[in-house]
Amino acid sequence: MQKYLINPNQKLSKINKDIYGTFSEHLGRCIYEGVYVGEDSPIPNVKGMRKDVVSALKEMGIPVLRWPGGCFADEYHWKDGIGPKADRKKMINTHWGGVVEDNSFGTHEFFELCEQIGCEAYVNGNVGSGTVQEMSEWVEYMTFDGLSPMSELRKKNGREKPWKVKYFGVGNENWGCGGHMLPEFYADQYRRYETFVRDYNGNEHIYRIACGANAFDYNWTEVLMKKAASRINGLSLHYYTLPGDWGNKGKATEYTDDEYYTTIAKCYKMEELVRRHCEIISRYDPEKRVDLIVDEWGTWYDVEEGTNPGFLYQQSTLRDALVAGITLNIFNKHSDRIRMANIAQTVNVLQSVVLTDGEDMLLTPTYHIFKMYKSHAENTLLGSFLTTDYLEENKQTPVLTESASIDENGTIVSTISNASLTEGYEIKCQVADFEVKEVKAEIVSGNARDYNTFDNKEVVKTVEFTDFTLTKDGFVAKLPPCSVAKFIIK
Ligand code: AHR
Repeated sequence: MQKYLINPNQKLSKINKDIYGTFSEHLGRCIYEGVYVGEDSPIPNVKGMRKDVVSALKEMGIPVLRWPGGCFADEYHWKDGIGPKADRKKMINTHWGGVVEDNSFGTHEFFELCEQIGCEAYVNGNVGSGTVQEMSEWVEYMTFDGLSPMSELRKKNGREKPWKVKYFGVGNENWGCGGHMLPEFYADQYRRYETFVRDYNGNEHIYRIACGANAFDYNWTEVLMKKAASRINGLSLHYYTLPGDWGNKGKATEYTDDEYYTTIAKCYKMEELVRRHCEIISRYDPEKRVDLIVDEWGTWYDVEEGTNPGFLYQQSTLRDALVAGITLNIFNKHSDRIRMANIAQTVNVLQSVVLTDGEDMLLTPTYHIFKMYKSHAENTLLGSFLTTDYLEENKQTPVLTESASIDENGTIVSTISNASLTEGYEIKCQVADFEVKEVKAEIVSGNARDYNTFDNKEVVKTVEFTDFTLTKDGFVAKLPPCSVAKFIIK
């Protein structure tokens, strides 16, 4: 029997709702077809946005959406995407499939999408191939309420009032597709570009995000903190989970047990990454003023057969649900420093939450995990500890992970993942100094290779979980293999 202790007396950090954010790039069928079909489409839409997808994303409770990239951000020139659609420039999406980008989804459409979903906007600027002036004017166009060339242009294009840009990214992956810069050079560029990201509207500060490290590149974080910390609000981190390597990533739906466990172990590397990047940030910023922003994470497999290799379309099995559950538990546990995270990506690309096929749509296992975990949003993280087996002899990857939080009414939320393919675990949960009156639970579980198809959309879904008994200070539950569960404890 595993012991699980939750300590409501140990109130740690606030779990920012933006940890449950997503990312949507002009890549493959994410924006076009995925969310935007245009007003003339036979697919039911409101101002060009798919009704079915928007309502699913709303229901999932997306707090914040990152756009327009990704690598695309550093070749995106925002003025190409405003004004009458017929006049908008067509360009080649050089990073993603070499297809024509007609710019019919631009700044106005992005904010329309955010409004329809009811989420905040995270706009990523272009440092790699754009100018300081271009970035500065974009911010002016989006956020300035007074009289200026850019606010007049916005009004001419039909939007009187400015929008709220909560987060602004100063470049993306500038160590790679965003310009192959060295950290010293980027730190200087960041300082220069960020200077012209103006806060126009009094106390509405635009939160600036500096491009952060590629996975294990700790030197990047070190240099950025040393040279630019005083001007950074959030420093990003990108990490993808590949069962194989970049040449042969592995398949999304067909994999051996070994590949499954490798995926889980590689996903759990996120814990080490977050911890070690945070240690560096803390050396320069012990007051915790600079946040860590994990604005790209998730699984990356070989594309589905017969699809454009540049479109990064992959299916999603219960293995992805485990990756999501484990990763979100890690983020919750590090919410003292992580303010936002954005899974890559939202629709039809990489570890999506929604897949579409023409007018059809399905929810992936990852969708169900996000919907389940949103109960943690804005709660306070609690001290908690769960005993566990490990995948390897050197105890690198726990089979079970958990996180626990409490809301303002004193209701405790706990999420637990069991990555074992074969073992169910009996878990004895005890909540310190707490008289448990009621526990409700739900679960996503099944065969690791289960996934939802357009013919059968409910193979993987959330169901009520009842395999537990109440004790006076907690419960004893039998968590099945390959599962993610949530317990609401009152
Ligand atoms: O999410 C796909 C790509 O992965 C993004 O465009 C880029 O930032 C990263 O390399």
